[in-house]
Amino acid sequence: MDRALLEATAAKLVAPGKGILAADESNGTMSKRLEGVGLESSEEARRAYRANLFATPGCESAVSGVILYDETIRQNMDDGTPIPEYLTSRGIIPGIKVDTGTKDLSEHRFQMHGEEVEIDCLPGEKITMGIAAEPENGWADLATRCAEYREMGAGFAKWRAVITIGDGMPSGGCIVYNAMALASYANICQQNGLVPIIEPEVLMEGSHDANRCREVTSEVLEKTWDFCKSQGVHLPGVLLKPNMILAGNACATQLSRREVAKSTVDCLAESVPHDVGGVVFLSGGQSDEDATFHLHFMNEMDVEHPWQLSYSYGRALQAAALKAWAEEGAEASQAAFAHRAKMNSLARSGDYDWESDSA
Ligand code: 13P
Repeated sequence: MDRALLEATAAKLVAPGKGILAADESNGTMSKRLEGVGLESSEEARRAYRANLFATPGCESAVSGVILYDETIRQNMDDGTPIPEYLTSRGIIPGIKVDTGTKDLSEHRFQMHGEEVEIDCLPGEKITMGIAAEPENGWADLATRCAEYREMGAGFAKWRAVITIGDGMPSGGCIVYNAMALASYANICQQNGLVPIIEPEVLMEGSHDANRCREVTSEVLEKTWDFCKSQGVHLPGVLLKPNMILAGNACATQLSRREVAKSTVDCLAESVPHDVGGVVFLSGGQSDEDATFHLHFMNEMDVEHPWQLSYSYGRALQAAALKAWAEEGAEASQAAFAHRAKMNSLARSGDYDWESDSA
């Protein structure tokens, strides 16, 4: 394992003032997003929208890396330049989503020492797939895919585990199996020279309060580090992509933006090893402004923590750009993206200013 390379890549991804653009929606999700703004989806429609986003003038000052999907990493810019090569030429590190999506945990058959193990979980809970080959879906095993993506110019990878809070949820099995998969994924990425982004997303859907979100987030993080330790994952060559601490979207009592920031940093301070390479939050369905404000308050606060606190936003960086792409065209889409990227870049140092955002 090339530890120096992994640490250097992780440090570049969380360089001051910069963060990650998550543009790795699966074909199904990206199609829904395009259809949601009234556009038809096709391989070319997904390429054209994303190529325009990546060509945004000046975005490299706020974007250190872009997470791509398997389809996109094989596509070209309008002038025929391969997308990973184009991003690299602008000083932006191409990344790749390597999980192959989720399936019902209750249907998952897990083998230990040749025996099938029964999993304690509840209906509806998910496990993220992607380590073993899935010939039926055209996926090679993770190690093979990581080596190929590295060859194509990728410097980092992403794997998202999904944890739902609800009646009796998450179960112990859901936490353990997802944490185990995250650690195995991280280890395989690092063996292949890719910095793994570990993303255990505790969803904000539900009526739970913020304390419950914090309790579950801590438990999931702690379990994930336990497995990372036993798998020999090199933490300075890892980025953590956590949810923020929020009450569920159906909970009557919501935290203020400053409380979200404080509670999130307190939770991480308790549950994340100091030598992890950096923290890049997901936006998870928050409004664009909430996602920026929360990051701003976290970075503005006078609380000691050893990590860069940055962004790896999908929707909170793209929603306005996608709408503008549908309604006003290429330049307006780039302007909308450049604006949100700049606002989040300012939030990285606690210098976001609401007046200039809304002007
Ligand atoms: P959101 O910021 O839209 O949650 O997306 C980030 C991401 O990459 C989810 O896996």
